[in-house]
Amino acid sequence: MPVVRALSKVAKQALLAPACGCQPLTVAIRNISFSPRQVTSGSDASSFHSVSFSETDHPKVLITGPFIYSDILDYKNLREIVVNNRITWLVHYSALLSAVGEANVPLARAVNITGLHNILDIAAEHGLRLFVPSTIGAFGPTSPRNPTPDLCVQRPRTIYGVSKVHAELMGEYYHHRYGLDFRCLRYPGIISADSQPGGGTTDMLIACTNASLPCEPHLRLPKVTCENLKNYAVQIFHDAVKTGKFECNLKPDTRLPMMYIDDCLRATLEVMEAPAETLSMRTYNINAMSFTPEELANEVQKQLPDLQVSYEIDSVRQAIADSWPMNFDDSNARTDWGWKHDYDLPELVQTMLNFIGSDTRVAQAN
Ligand SMILES: NC(=O)c1ccc[n+]([C@@H]2O[C@H](COP(=O)([O-])OP(=O)(O)OC[C@H]3O[C@@H](n4cnc5c(N)ncnc54)[C@H](O)[C@@H]3O)[C@@H](O)[C@H]2O)c1
Repeated sequence: MPVVRALSKVAKQALLAPACGCQPLTVAIRNISFSPRQVTSGSDASSFHSVSFSETDHPKVLITGPFIYSDILDYKNLREIVVNNRITWLVHYSALLSAVGEANVPLARAVNITGLHNILDIAAEHGLRLFVPSTIGAFGPTSPRNPTPDLCVQRPRTIYGVSKVHAELMGEYYHHRYGLDFRCLRYPGIISADSQPGGGTTDMLIACTNASLPCEPHLRLPKVTCENLKNYAVQIFHDAVKTGKFECNLKPDTRLPMMYIDDCLRATLEVMEAPAETLSMRTYNINAMSFTPEELANEVQKQLPDLQVSYEIDSVRQAIADSWPMNFDDSNARTDWGWKHDYDLPELVQTMLNFIGSDTRVAQAN
């Protein structure tokens, strides 16, 4: 899963030298403490805007998810980090993604829902600008799929999807009720050369390890993870370069929305920097491209004509993919704050092959 890793790198570069010339601090923590807590009684919209204009112009950013370990049950410690570092923006990436979530629903509920409540409270109490990512997994089989608009039926069937809808609604509620500066983007599938795709169980064990979760041998992990479904679009590049053969678990005509990691991170920074008056809503779809395995394979074969692609359909994965958006309507993001993607399918393929090809050459040389 590439987003946390990539953002922590890019945030350091981009925010250390932003257009405003300021010198923000980026603090990134993982395993933040989450415990039930109420918004300070008597809080109102004005108290949530206690951060001065100059402070929001010179953001100090806390990213949850990577790097530093903090006591997972220590809300006080989280607050200390915010106060001691004079944090003004909070980017909340911590989450249990779908596979781990389905394997341990109580933990997913704690991290994704109770955790989100704590983040909302911290952000509200300290007047922080808050970003929380959502996902195509926040939609379900009854949502319109092609295109999927910002506002439509959302009835996901995973705890991950449900928790993300909850995050969208709670953030918007805190914005309307208390004036919290909540901003949310629904990411499509994120593609990065800086991630190690795998199939089913392997990915989930990696996810468990990353999240410091119990990886008991008897833990019956589900075979499918929503994010992993998109990994075919990463795996194909590794296989094309290393073996020249790729077996796809989805039907050749399964269309899903996708985005290269650089666009995802730029969108996140842009929506955080957007003047509040440009935002007609607080949760936006963003998109870059939408393609099928067959279209992706054809594009890769333009560079590597010997690539052999076969299809071994996994019915469970296929059923989940068939319940997801095929195409995101992100026209509101484009109109309101000028979202524009840089990477389309040919550029994505070229970039991924360049990265993975050079990594492979380095590995062979070593
Ligand atoms: N990768 C994608 O394609 C994609 C798509 C849509 C949305 N997102 C969202 O982006 C965010 C980052 O996703 P990612 O792909 O980098 O996943 P990831 O699994 O790499 O990152 C999640 C992070 O949360 C941390 N975490 C888990 N439990 C925690 C706890 N109790 N306290 C604190 N931190 C904890 C993990 O250590 C991990 O670093 C998530 O919120 C995810 O929902 C990702």
